[in-house]
Amino acid sequence: MITFEQLQSKQEAICVVGLGYVGLPLAVLLSEHFHVLGFDIDTKKIAELEKGYDRTGEVTKERLEKSSLTYSADPQTIAQAKFIIIAVPTPVDSHNIPNLSIVKSATRLVAEHMQKGSIVVYESTVYPGVTEDMCLPIIEEVSGLSLHTEFGIAYSPERVNPGDKKHTIDKITKVISGSNEAVFVVLEEVYGSITNTFRAVSIKAAEAAKVIENTQRDVNIALMNELAMIFHKMDLSIYDVLEAANTKWNFLPFTPGLVGGHCIGVDPYYLTYKAQELGHTPEVMLSGRGINDAMHVFMANDILKKALQLGKDIASLQVAFYGMTFKENVPDIRNSKVVSLYKELCSFGMKPFVYDPYVDKDELMHEYGIPLVSDRDDIPVVDILIVAVAHRDFAIYCIDELMYLTKEHALIVDIKHLYNKEEIEKSGRSYWSL
Ligand SMILES: NC(=O)c1ccc[n+]([C@@H]2O[C@H](COP(=O)([O-])OP(=O)(O)OC[C@H]3O[C@@H](n4cnc5c(N)ncnc54)[C@H](O)[C@@H]3O)[C@@H](O)[C@H]2O)c1
Repeated sequence: MITFEQLQSKQEAICVVGLGYVGLPLAVLLSEHFHVLGFDIDTKKIAELEKGYDRTGEVTKERLEKSSLTYSADPQTIAQAKFIIIAVPTPVDSHNIPNLSIVKSATRLVAEHMQKGSIVVYESTVYPGVTEDMCLPIIEEVSGLSLHTEFGIAYSPERVNPGDKKHTIDKITKVISGSNEAVFVVLEEVYGSITNTFRAVSIKAAEAAKVIENTQRDVNIALMNELAMIFHKMDLSIYDVLEAANTKWNFLPFTPGLVGGHCIGVDPYYLTYKAQELGHTPEVMLSGRGINDAMHVFMANDILKKALQLGKDIASLQVAFYGMTFKENVPDIRNSKVVSLYKELCSFGMKPFVYDPYVDKDELMHEYGIPLVSDRDDIPVVDILIVAVAHRDFAIYCIDELMYLTKEHALIVDIKHLYNKEEIEKSGRSYWSL
């Protein structure tokens, strides 16, 4: 089996399979210590990376150019490494059923090329059992190699939070697990070179740990969303309530909002799928998912009520929508619930201008058919301003800026609770938030 010393001396290489939000920053960081080869099937992405451009915005041009990491779309690259990290997407289908086809095909590709003595590490988020019960048999069958004697397998979930410059990989404890002690030791030393590690007792425990981290967040946000809906009926702001409740030492600081993206809104479905397969219907998790998945409908209906108070025909209102990504400070529009909110409002007859300095215009058009205004100044002064994402560019808007963007009696919709309600109302505008 490959040893840490061989990797440390750069006699043997690491290959990262899948250079997205997770794989690329990891590969760049590892390349500061090891000989690292980056592999991705997306040839356009490889060409971009070769030019020093990371479309996810996670790694700067300067860091990419300084890095010794190499990029390739040729699967032969995998054969040049004995420590192989798989970081490919794990989405759900339109029925919220885990779609493991990408993990399976990446596994097959790795198995076709891997050498004897390799360790294959999965970083993709999965439900307990995927690594050992689904991927391992594929590797054994395709490669013809035997576990323990000829290769090792491991799971180490990625907990990175894209767009978050504080909790970077080097500051996040890496949970590791492996098929035997020798594999554990190599993982401990490889990942230990970039951050601190924690040994999970088994591969399944490590898989489960990752999936419950996001499930816990999802359920807690769902509770906040439910409370927000109840308090709306009482004309109470959930934020005023939370401010008071948060003064208790054991009150958890969650806030309501739209839960999109490909982690928090997806990972619970991996666990609920497995639970149902085992004959258990997970009521809390599914009910939380249901609330979060429909939150945009509640928001849209409430915004509509407020918009009707402007006394104009909905279709004639000038509306601007700021932010389309699923969360702040990233260009990621996958499973964005902001898009769902936008579409819901369009179904009422609104025709909002859309502005988001982080989003790729062509991608937004291609994925959702939504036109993007590249220059904010091309948007007229509006009747309704909807700030849907807490991008740092929007979070810094002061009252003068908000007044500049809106008409005198406009409605300002503050989805992320960024602004001061009293100041806005004093300016003659009306205000909506959860
Ligand atoms: N993005 C996050 O916030 C985050 C955080 C923690 C964990 N995760 C998990 O990490 C995994 C990867 O997520 P991501 O956000 O990096 O995805 P991503 O879509 O940004 O990147 C995945 C990359 O894998 C490539 N790919 C697909 N099939 C491939 C194959 N067969 N061989 C080589 N490359 C292939 C794609 O071209 C893409 O570049 C998922 O399981 C996700 O749930 C994501």
